[in-house]
Amino acid sequence: MTQESDSKAYAPSKETVARAHVNATQYDEMYAASMQDPEGFWRQQAERIDWIKPFTQVKDVNFTLGNVSINWYTDGTLNVAANCVDRHLETRGEQTAIIWEPDSPDEPAQHITYKQLHTHVCRMANVLETMGVRKGDRVVIYLPMIPEAAYAMLACARIGAIHSIVFAGFSPDALAARVNGCDAKVLITADEAPRGGRKTPLKSNADAALLHTKDTVKCLVVKRTGGQTTWVDGRDYDYNEMALEANDYSKPAEMNAEDPLFILYTSGSTGQPKGVVHTTGGYLTYAAMTHEITFDYHDGDIYWCTADVGWVTGHSYIVYGPLANGATTLMFEGVPTFPDASRFWQVCDKHQVTQFYTAPTALRALMGQGNEWVEKCDLSSLRTLGTVGEPINPEAWTWYNDVVGKGKCPIVDTWWQTETGGHLMTPLPGAHATKPGAAMKPFFGVAPVVLDPQSGEEIEGNGVEGVLCIKDSWPGQMRSVWGDHERFEKTYFSDYKGYYFTGDGCRRDADGDYWITGRVDDVINVSGHRMGTAEVESALVAHAAVAEAAVVGYPHSIKGQGIYCYVTLMNDREPSDDLLKELRAWVRTEIGPIASPDVIQWAPGLPKTRSGKIMRRILRKIAENDFGALGDTSTLADPSVVDDLIANRADKG
Ligand code: WT7
Repeated sequence: MTQESDSKAYAPSKETVARAHVNATQYDEMYAASMQDPEGFWRQQAERIDWIKPFTQVKDVNFTLGNVSINWYTDGTLNVAANCVDRHLETRGEQTAIIWEPDSPDEPAQHITYKQLHTHVCRMANVLETMGVRKGDRVVIYLPMIPEAAYAMLACARIGAIHSIVFAGFSPDALAARVNGCDAKVLITADEAPRGGRKTPLKSNADAALLHTKDTVKCLVVKRTGGQTTWVDGRDYDYNEMALEANDYSKPAEMNAEDPLFILYTSGSTGQPKGVVHTTGGYLTYAAMTHEITFDYHDGDIYWCTADVGWVTGHSYIVYGPLANGATTLMFEGVPTFPDASRFWQVCDKHQVTQFYTAPTALRALMGQGNEWVEKCDLSSLRTLGTVGEPINPEAWTWYNDVVGKGKCPIVDTWWQTETGGHLMTPLPGAHATKPGAAMKPFFGVAPVVLDPQSGEEIEGNGVEGVLCIKDSWPGQMRSVWGDHERFEKTYFSDYKGYYFTGDGCRRDADGDYWITGRVDDVINVSGHRMGTAEVESALVAHAAVAEAAVVGYPHSIKGQGIYCYVTLMNDREPSDDLLKELRAWVRTEIGPIASPDVIQWAPGLPKTRSGKIMRRILRKIAENDFGALGDTSTLADPSVVDDLIANRADKG
């Protein structure tokens, strides 16, 4: 087995350390302070935001099953939109708040100043109020990656409505389920969503969804392409027309720190997606702090997170965190490979991006296309690189480091979840060395513990592995599952009593650094050996012929579980029996004989969510020959991929 603690560590340069908000000594001191006196620490951090009425109590938390309750800054009041917009007007009204880069490079980018943002948000807030939206009401947002998505979020926050964003790639059925799930009053959509040169008919999807919701749900339609839509009088409202008439000012509502800010549906290992609830005061404090420190954001920087606002990454690290910090945040409507594989790097070049934050899956896809797409762009403005969403394999990490960052930009591998609101583990640019694939260190105030999965006991010391739990609350933590607090308690607080259970496996290496080994339901046990599927995948993609790989366990009569590998080859490689043998031998040498793949299936494509996460649940079912129970496939980006995998399912022998 590869011992990650032995892997090369990359120390930050002197320049990086000198510039950083937090260096190694400061990290150690601040971290210790956050553990010794959490209340004092978080009282001070809450000064990052403007309170209408100051809080007296910092923290009121109970992790005991049956009585789980999480409250931060409980009696304080604030308005999130005022924190993200209004308070910057005096000092940076003319500064760009949002750079919008459209899907097609032929369409001009937009630069929206804080002053303009204020006007747009106020108008949208007034439009929503005209439509009858009041404090506490739910608004579903189903929009492309356009500035109006940010206006809509902030407009809701301004009037105290709770938004629930549904990624524009979701189907009408999934949209209807989410509108109904939170009993939304208004659905905000656009005519069409351009992405990768194609257009998704959002309004007609919304029309289809609204057939399965209450008749009272109103639809606010933003013009994006000008494409034709059918109009239902009395139900549909024209945003662009109404915004022209709307007043330029809307008074921010005074909200309690524990009033919900948003609901975001996310898939669990069982059942239908659950509505993760985040509130205002703690969430904003945490998003702002992590954004500034993890990315080492400074005034004048141009920060770009490539996520979609349909995911939590877009909430915390495109909109709320950056705007609370008065940053310039880039919103990109398109995809990494349109019109060609250099798009990301061209956008970095064009806007002189300083912080770039993306997903490993995008990096792997781009890496497979060759270095010339990167090398033809000027990336000298880049300072911090980030990844999020899944473990990054050392090959992609090294490529990111060497080819994109030219060895000069620290990579922050940020581990967190929809549930956590913000980063829980990540190296900090000027404080920590990085290791390819390691989440490294807990963020301030975060107390990770490695538990024995059977006994639930804490495993002390280094060079250990187990399930990852968090000992105590942090301000960005989710507060409940919308409408089902019991499910919240059961999912996160019942397996390991007194802890928040992350669902992830974790290793603390010989140096005390943390590595996420993947969801514990993805960890497989082969002949009594516990193995991270990510480990086998990493070995496979280290082979020159392999573009991407996904590995799952399946029942094996002798070994308990066998290793089933789905392998996507590089464009220029063809499947063959020889290559299959070569890959088996390769994995044996990379990891060890216990990791030898039992089955390798050639996969022209892998089933992915629209955010690019591989749906291993489906791969496990196919590997188990259980095609009847594929479960909810509504989040698949391309359902035909699954049909192909079933049709060509490898013979397990
Ligand atoms: C799960 C959470 C966090 C926003 C996007 C995903 C995996 C996330 C990492 C990372 C290894 C990671 C975990 C986690 N994950 N980031 N840096 N290294 N694994 O949010 O959809 O709620 O997924 O993604 O398994 O539990 P999400």
